Amino acid sequence: MFSRGVVQSTYRSNASLFWKAFRAASAPAITRGTLPGALTTGRRYISVYGYTQAKALVYSRYGEPKDVLRLHKHSISPPHGSQVTLRLLAAPLNPADVNQIQGVYPSKPPFQTALGTQDPCAVGGNEGAFEVIATGSGVKTLSKGDWVVMKQTGQGTWRTHAQMEESQLIKIEDTDGLSPLQISTVSVNPVTAYRMIKDFCEWDWMRSGEEWLIQNGANSGVGRAVIQLAREWGIKTINVVRERKTPEETEALKSELHELGATAVVTETELLSGDFKNMLSGLTRNGREPIRLALNCVGGKNATALAKALSPGSHLVTYGAMSKQPVSLPSGLLIFKNLAFDGFWVSKWGDKHPQLKENTINDVLQLTRAGKFKDIPVEEIKWAWDTDSTALTAGVQETLSGYRSGKGLFKYEGGD
Ligand SMILES: NC(=O)c1ccc[n+]([C@@H]2O[C@H](COP(=O)([O-])OP(=O)(O)OC[C@H]3O[C@@H](n4cnc5c(N)ncnc54)[C@H](OP(=O)(O)O)[C@@H]3O)[C@@H](O)[C@H]2O)c1
Repeated sequence: MFSRGVVQSTYRSNASLFWKAFRAASAPAITRGTLPGALTTGRRYISVYGYTQAKALVYSRYGEPKDVLRLHKHSISPPHGSQVTLRLLAAPLNPADVNQIQGVYPSKPPFQTALGTQDPCAVGGNEGAFEVIATGSGVKTLSKGDWVVMKQTGQGTWRTHAQMEESQLIKIEDTDGLSPLQISTVSVNPVTAYRMIKDFCEWDWMRSGEEWLIQNGANSGVGRAVIQLAREWGIKTINVVRERKTPEETEALKSELHELGATAVVTETELLSGDFKNMLSGLTRNGREPIRLALNCVGGKNATALAKALSPGSHLVTYGAMSKQPVSLPSGLLIFKNLAFDGFWVSKWGDKHPQLKENTINDVLQLTRAGKFKDIPVEEIKWAWDTDSTALTAGVQETLSGYRSGKGLFKYEGGD
């Protein structure tokens, strides 16, 4: 009904009639292409009659982010019923976001025309922190100024503004002492780390400080969360990282993870060396302190080495495949050591346990407020109203490049 470019000049002269007709005609659709009637001040479009001007990084086909992502401008109608209009605060760029755009990730948000794009599209990004800027009359739990995160992945977070149902959002009850970075990165990586440590091993809490976990990808967002949660819960950690270009850089990375609470940090080369067995004996008092859990996001030989380090009856949980190599396991580990091998996917887990997900987020934020959960390093990509799309898509393209100084993070600096 309301197609781009057909809003007549009567929009301004007879706005209320237009608005009534528009509302009646397009009740379920919440956003459409940019209103030609919108006024501009300088470069920023301002809302007329409650419309919010928005931009979103969208894709209509799968491929490399630099080839398929584009910035789409559209307008968002005033919220009604249980709708909530949001402004982006910050949104991270996670490996899974890129895999999703490449079309190689199992969850694929449907391509839709709700934003008024010529071809059906999806909005990139799966997590982020948003501020509520307007609410419909039926909204009960949220008000202007509240900060929220997405209840589920796949809702599209790389956008300056969004309109969603109240039921799709989790309100951050107490934002005191918390930053957009902390809130925007809490719902995927820390939740993954938290659940994998708690749900795949029955830790003997009487032996606090005497049990271990081992993980690869320890410099990742998940890895850093694992280190800090394990430290908090009295579990020792062996953390595998990749060597840096120089020994000094490798040492600097090891020190950084030690400062977060890592008990031991080893390089992938050390893990795969013949000497690793002796190193393990030294760390674990000749095996008297068991290694009860292995967390694998790399695969290949690295994952096999983690499995070999485990004590009998332990668990290896795979949650990523950064090396793109399969996990191969010597049969003896299954037969004689009775190891269990699992996978974990936070999206599916969160859909199944929405309340537990919210509780987990709150637990992590509580630790963050208490200074016990440090910010991940980020490479901030400022997103102002007139930021060029190439600056944004180049940032996305970098996500899987490896050896980075921090995770990409969109920080929105435009107004309402
Ligand atoms: N299953 C789930 O529910 C779930 C949830 C969250 C994340 N994940 C997965 O967990 C992994 C980490 O995610 P993140 O967001 O925490 O990552 P991140 O902060 O963006 O960091 C990426 C990490 O991957 C490492 N890496 C990249 N290529 C590698 C390779 N070829 N071999 C070994 N390591 C490599 C990097 O190591 P360097 O520092 O050495 O470059 C870095 O530590 C990803 O695979 C992601 O998809 C899974």
